[in-house]
Parts: sequence; C-alpha cells; structure tokens
Amino acid sequence: MQINKSLNVVVKLLIVLTSNYDIFSCYAQTLQIEGAWRADGKGLSIWDKFAHTALKISQDENGDIACDSYNKIVEDINSLKTLRVNHYRFSISWPRIMPDGTTKKINEAGLNYYHRLVDALLAANIKPQVTLYHWDLPQALQDVGGWENDTIVNRFRDYADVVFNSLGDKVKFWITINEPYNVAMVGHGYGSAAPGISFRPGTAPYIVAHNLIKAHAEAWHVYNDKNPYKQEDVDAAMRVVQFQIGWFAHPVFNGDYSDLMKNIIRERSLAAGRPQSRLPEFTPAEVARIMGTHDYFGFNHYTTVLAYNMDYKNLEHYDADRGAGTVADRTWLDSGSFWLKVTPVGFRKILNFIKEEYGDPPIYITENGVSERGPMNLNDVHRIHYYDNYINQALKAYLLDGVDIRGYAAWTLMDNLEWATGFDEKFGFFYVNRSDPSLPRIPKKSVWHYATIINCNGFISPGESPHESVAVVLLVYGIVKTSKKQKRPVEEHIDLEKKDMF
Ligand SMILES: *[C@@H]1O[C@H](CO)[C@@H](O)[C@H](O)[C@H]1NC(C)=O
Ligand SMILES: *[C@@H]1O[C@H](CO)[C@@H](O)[C@H](O)[C@H]1NC(C)=O
Repeated sequence: MQINKSLNVVVKLLIVLTSNYDIFSCYAQTLQIEGAWRADGKGLSIWDKFAHTALKISQDENGDIACDSYNKIVEDINSLKTLRVNHYRFSISWPRIMPDGTTKKINEAGLNYYHRLVDALLAANIKPQVTLYHWDLPQALQDVGGWENDTIVNRFRDYADVVFNSLGDKVKFWITINEPYNVAMVGHGYGSAAPGISFRPGTAPYIVAHNLIKAHAEAWHVYNDKNPYKQEDVDAAMRVVQFQIGWFAHPVFNGDYSDLMKNIIRERSLAAGRPQSRLPEFTPAEVARIMGTHDYFGFNHYTTVLAYNMDYKNLEHYDADRGAGTVADRTWLDSGSFWLKVTPVGFRKILNFIKEEYGDPPIYITENGVSERGPMNLNDVHRIHYYDNYINQALKAYLLDGVDIRGYAAWTLMDNLEWATGFDEKFGFFYVNRSDPSLPRIPKKSVWHYATIINCNGFISPGESPHESVAVVLLVYGIVKTSKKQKRPVEEHIDLEKKDMF
C-alpha cells in the first residue's frame, strides 16, 4: 500500500533527527504482513473493517492472515539474515496492544509478540526501527470520529507512552506516523484507503492533518520527557566516574580529591551527625607532594555502564555517597563476565573525558580485553570483534579527537586465574591446556588477527599489502606515534567500524 511517498513530512522529520548514513534496512508494515487479525485479544482496526467491506480491496483480499508474520518470527528473521540488513523497520498495530484504542485495556499478549520479535532481531544483531502508526487505527476510535476528533491527540500520546515504556529499552529508533499525507488525503479526502471517507474533501483532510501533527508532537514530547535525557542521570554518570577514576586521578593530577567527592561526603557525614567528613583531608604539604606525580595516565578499560540517580538515604557507604545505580543496555553484547558488556563507543568517550579532565596527559591503555566462558573454543570470533571495535575507538580518539594515546596493551596473553572466578572467565589469546602436565599454550584465532594489527601498526585496508602500511597506531607493550609515512587516508581505518556507529 504505497500510494504517495512524496509528502512524508512527519516521518522524515524524525528520520533526519536521528539519521545515519550507514543504515541498511528493510521494512514491513503490520497489516500487510502480520496477519492474526483477531489473535490473542487484538482489537479491530479500520483496515480490518475496510478490508471486510466488499469491493474495497482488489479481489477481495484482506489482512486476516497476510503473511502470518505473527506466527513466523523465526522465518522472517532468517529472511532478514539472508538479506544481510542490519536494521529492520516494522510497525506496531495499535489495536493489537490497545484493543479499543484506549488505556482501558492493555493487551499483554499483543505486546509480547513485539517483544519476541524485537528480542529475535537483537539476537540476530539487527536493530529495530519501529513505526507507531501505519494506518491501522483501532476501529473503536474511528467509531467516535477517528483522526477527525481531536481527543485522538491524547489517545495517541497514551498509546505511544505504553509502547515506549514497554519496548523503549530495546528499541532506539522510532517513527511516529507513517505517510501522514495519505492518512489525511487518501483516507479522508479521496476515500480510497481506510477509513474510506470522501464526502468532506474540503474540511476533513485538514482537520485530520491538524490532529496528526499534534499527535506526532505529543508522542515526541512524551518520549523526550520520559526517556532519553535526564539531567539527574547525567549527574549520576558523572558521580560514577568521579568516584572511580577521579578518586585517584584527581589527587595525582590536581593535588586533592575532586570538589564533587569532597562536598557529597562532607554533607552526608554532617547530616548523619558526624563532626567532620568521613573522607580524610590532605594537608597542604601533602597536596603539594601528591600533585603532579605523574608521567602518563595508565588506563585499564573493559566496559561501560549506564548510570541513574539512586537515593540510599542515610546509609554510610561508598555506594550511598556515590548515589547512583548502574545498568547495561540490553542490546550490548555479552562476554564471559557478567560485568563486561561489549560497548566500544564508551571507550572513546572515556578517553576524551581523561583528556579534558586531566589536562591532556599522555595515555597508555594498560589493559583492554574480553572474556569467554564455557567449553574451550579456539575460534574466538567475539574476541576479534571486540579488539577490532575497541582499537578502532581508540584510533578515533587519537586521530579525530586528539587524545594523546601513546600505547595499547591487550589483556591478556593466556587464559589465567581471573581472581575470584578462577579459570571460568577466559581472557587469553592463548588457551592453556591444564589437563596436560606440560601446560601447552594453544593459540586462539584472535592471535593471528591481533598479530596482523600489530604487524601493520594499525588496520590494513583491503587490497593493500601489510608492509606498506606503516600508519598510525598501536603496538602492544610499545610506543605509538612513530609513523614515518602515513600512506592511507585516516578514514579507511575508521570505515572498519562503521557498522557499529549507530
Ligand atoms: C470524540 O471522542 C470522544 C472520546 O474520546 C467522545 O466522547 C466524543 O463524543 C467524540 N466526539 C465526536 C464528535 O464524535
Ligand atoms: C589437553 O590435554 C589432554 C591431555 O594431554 C588431551 O587429552 C586433550 O586432548 C587436550 N585438549 C586440547 C583441547 O588440546
């Protein structure tokens, strides 16, 4: 049902705001593929009604079963994998989630279907792009005037809110309203699409469009008010960083604990009736002695967390002083360690933080790596993926942001005793067979990959011989910035990582 693509204003607006040139996607619309028109408590949509009215759709077809995507998630994911797309655009059926269009009844079974679909997409490394409204208004709302009745603006906001709340932590790309021109003009002017109204062509389309625009804005605001950016979350993230990196770096670089740490701990100590802060104070002589005792910034890095404000009341504890909870995004890849999620973009950010916060020091990355657990598998492609992406982010920090990175050390040479977790979490390039008394070191696949990066002092461009590429970065246990000739344009290195930029 693609009647007119040219005036897709509202949709384009959202796409522009979040656009990325690197999205190859594929789209399917609810009604056109989903089927299951009455399954699990779904309400009727205007298209169900329209399609069940004789002579409206060619050869009297309807969406009752369509392609039965409702019951064929596995098959559809396989089709997407075959296409090798990295995004999948689909739309949500409003009446499947809210049968009469209002919050009176939320149909959990309907929401569940979208969760299963989104989970399956994410597991296949395909990012969902979700359209809230693609023409299938709940019939119950149409019965009270549909898009011509301005109460629909709040109805749509409520629907969007329900969907954002339920799927918002998995879906990061939203489209509010698909082809509003067609809803207004084809649905309410010409009447050749649902709801098939054509007898007020001079007024109905304008009123419908008016309400579509307001509904779009309400959905946009409800998302923005509740979802993406909260100053208290940003502040919480800053506390997490200041209470961890800054706890030690701030004194060494500036002579004393950060004001942020000092103020929070003093306030909480006094509030608890103590005469002074639980955080000890450095004397002026100590400050002078400590300040500037660095030649470089040595930085171990593995993962990133998301932070949110958390009030622990009067508990006397470091965590309560820090006042933040941390979580991982569900879309981040796992490793063999519960605390380690693959988040390369965080690496570049925190390197920039160090540069800004501590006066652009030379930085040696002294540890960086990823674990696996379970049965031995020498084909450690996840480790190759991790190093490619993390090293590339370090490269971006160095080349594009001017972070003074001097060296990079991977963790670690061979699977070893990872502290409390014993040998379960394996971080090594080499597997050590501990059933064999001679403890042989057996290389995993990542060994050859990492060796190539080192051999080329960076990534090799396709079609170029490693020996010519004496470019920029990254020797293990060595020094960088020794490039004599920089043959390749920087962008070629950066390209390697495009797939993860979004
Ligand atoms: C508009 O919708 C509301 C319910 O949302 C309904 O009470 C009212 O009667 C409708 N107005 C018209 C003109 O249909
Ligand atoms: C580990 O060593 C044992 C004893 O020599 C041997 O039987 C086993 O095949 C080795 N495993 C691997 C994966 O090399």
